[in-house]
Amino acid sequence: MDPSQVKIPPLKDLTIDNITENVILINSLCEDQRMKYVLERLVTHLHDFARETRLSSKEWMTGLLFLTEVGQICSDVRQEFILLSDVLGLSLLVDSIDHPKPAGSTDGTVLGPFHTHEAEEMAPGAAMSHDPKGEPLLVVCTLKDTQGRPIPDCKIDIWETDSTGHYDVQYAERDGPDGRCIMRSDKDGVFWFKAIKPVPYPIPHDGPVGRLLKKLHRHPYRPSHMHFMFEKPGYDHLITALYLRNDPYETSDAVFGVKDTLVVDLGKVDAALAKKYDVQEGIHLMTYDFVLVTEEESSRLRDERSKEALDKLGRKVKIVNGLPIPDLD
Ligand code: BEZ
Ligand code: FE
Repeated sequence: MDPSQVKIPPLKDLTIDNITENVILINSLCEDQRMKYVLERLVTHLHDFARETRLSSKEWMTGLLFLTEVGQICSDVRQEFILLSDVLGLSLLVDSIDHPKPAGSTDGTVLGPFHTHEAEEMAPGAAMSHDPKGEPLLVVCTLKDTQGRPIPDCKIDIWETDSTGHYDVQYAERDGPDGRCIMRSDKDGVFWFKAIKPVPYPIPHDGPVGRLLKKLHRHPYRPSHMHFMFEKPGYDHLITALYLRNDPYETSDAVFGVKDTLVVDLGKVDAALAKKYDVQEGIHLMTYDFVLVTEEESSRLRDERSKEALDKLGRKVKIVNGLPIPDLD
């Protein structure tokens, strides 16, 4: 709709029943069609939420003070809003919508708040963790496309906690990055490095999100895992993690990140592998074959699924730049 054609009526005497349409109307001057659509749906759902719950002023003030605290605790190394999105299941939902995966490709999972941009690129076989108390782990992976062809020279960001379940950024005193590295896949799509066996750990729960979990009788633990992020032009950015089978929190992750396809059984390094990779025989071994989707495959699938989902809701939309907006033609 041409914003200059929008007739805004006097915004007076608004009621429970007509406030929503009027807020949407005044927002409709926005020229960015996608932003206008997102705001329209947000206002509709927020207002319906208040109407359906008969939200009291006191409850809404509790909510506002909670969000204020979530903001106040945020810093360069603490991202409470990501935690909130994670424990509400919204992070996983958005990732699943925005990065659909065809059968046979590697699933994505939650990013979490502990990815940084300070990891160093390391040579194949490097040790990315220097925690002497960690149980040594050899990680050997391949990276392929959905046709089974190796993907060389992909940037792979990898991060994990130390043996006490803390990421480097959670220590006020530290000399630099640890438990993180950047690897590049070789010409056969292989990358390998030395790490430590991941351990379960609680997400930061000394703030408002932790208090919320407690009220809900939910524990704050994540099962043992290692994070991986793959970036290569032409391929859909993949944020994922590998989880250890039989972890006590495998089926109750506080942030809903576990997918069966990402659960691995650790093996042991035998004599031949120990020789090949120059590590001690008997240490833990983690292997995995990652499969990336091209940007083209991913955007086709995203468009198809958006159309299907919105069709089911009876919405007439068209897809512009990979995102739906109302189809008014
Ligand atoms: C993590 O796995 O690093 C993480 C994910 C969500 C919330 C907190 C931590
Ligand atoms: Fe993690």
